[in-house]
Amino acid sequence: MNINGTAYRTIWPGDDQASVVIIDQTKLPHRLETVTLRTVEDAAHAILVMQVRGAPLIGATAAYGLALALLADASDSHLDRSIAFLAKQRPTAVNLRWALEEMRRALAPLPADTRASAAFAKAGAIADDDVETCRRIGVHGLALIRAIAETKPAGTAVNVLTHCNAGWLACVDWGTATSPIYHAHDAGIAVHVWVDETRPRNQGAALTAYELGRHGVPHTLIVDNAGGHLMQHGKVDLCIVGTDRVAANGDVANKIGTYLKALAAHDTGVPFYVALPYSTIDWTLASGRDIPIEERSADEVLKLQGQLTDGSVASVAIAAPGSPAANPAFDVTPQRLVTGFITERGIASADRNGLLALYPERRESAA
Ligand code: MRU
Repeated sequence: MNINGTAYRTIWPGDDQASVVIIDQTKLPHRLETVTLRTVEDAAHAILVMQVRGAPLIGATAAYGLALALLADASDSHLDRSIAFLAKQRPTAVNLRWALEEMRRALAPLPADTRASAAFAKAGAIADDDVETCRRIGVHGLALIRAIAETKPAGTAVNVLTHCNAGWLACVDWGTATSPIYHAHDAGIAVHVWVDETRPRNQGAALTAYELGRHGVPHTLIVDNAGGHLMQHGKVDLCIVGTDRVAANGDVANKIGTYLKALAAHDTGVPFYVALPYSTIDWTLASGRDIPIEERSADEVLKLQGQLTDGSVASVAIAAPGSPAANPAFDVTPQRLVTGFITERGIASADRNGLLALYPERRESAA
């Protein structure tokens, strides 16, 4: 997508075939900076500290990180060690493990001296596949937004509420939840997005508002607690969020606070859709109860990062010194609260049958 007229992806290989470049998302929206990753440790660090984040992008970064690992040592034991090392950086988004298993399947049978170049090619293919998958999610979601637009008085915008950042910054391009929005906007449909700020890391304020703004999509930033009120007053036509892991029964893990939005949407009759690529479905889990929920540092709750009037970026304390804080980073929304899934294969009901209708090849293996 575009930043000030220049087309970007979130990750791309360096010119030297020995490095990978990412947009440093810890610096947005105040600075657009890139970081060059040269080692598997660099890639793991980028995932851990959230220089890259969002389920599909974590997967793509891990794939490139494995390519960097194999440049240094392409032995079987280093392949296994590096996969385990990258996989443990963040526990909830299944795309991380999915991408690493795709890499293992492609690379393990190869002679060691060909693995590094094959790994770069495979990581590039995973990144390209994510772009096309997200584009297709957008095409299917566009039909949904168009149908709602046709029920509204001419000239009024379709109001979409989204949580966290499931935008192009969370993927390689397009985004999952935002792809239908970009497609609708580009097709001339009036859309307006309510953007949850998404405490504690503020991915909505720092990333979603930033990327929608750069693409020219009308949007309004709201505090996390405003969504229910807006839904009660008819100001939300639909919610679209992303996800880090969907269990085989349709339960959805996503950024903390998603569950509360789904409850409010259910109570007020607002359709609540989850946009996802096939790589986010964990067919091994029968329900969302077993999805591991990442617990992050209390510091993220106790402090806020922002720009001071002199232009410098600073972190400030927002609680009394010594206040304890807890920071579960994700929650699970039961499938009964989800209206439907928007996938690259079409729209499905948010349950086992809906998923299997779209992915019949999983019928035998699904938990
Ligand atoms: O902690 P984050 O920023 O990695 O969490 C991101 C989300 O929760 C997204 O909604 C999810 O990864 C889907 S991204 C298309």
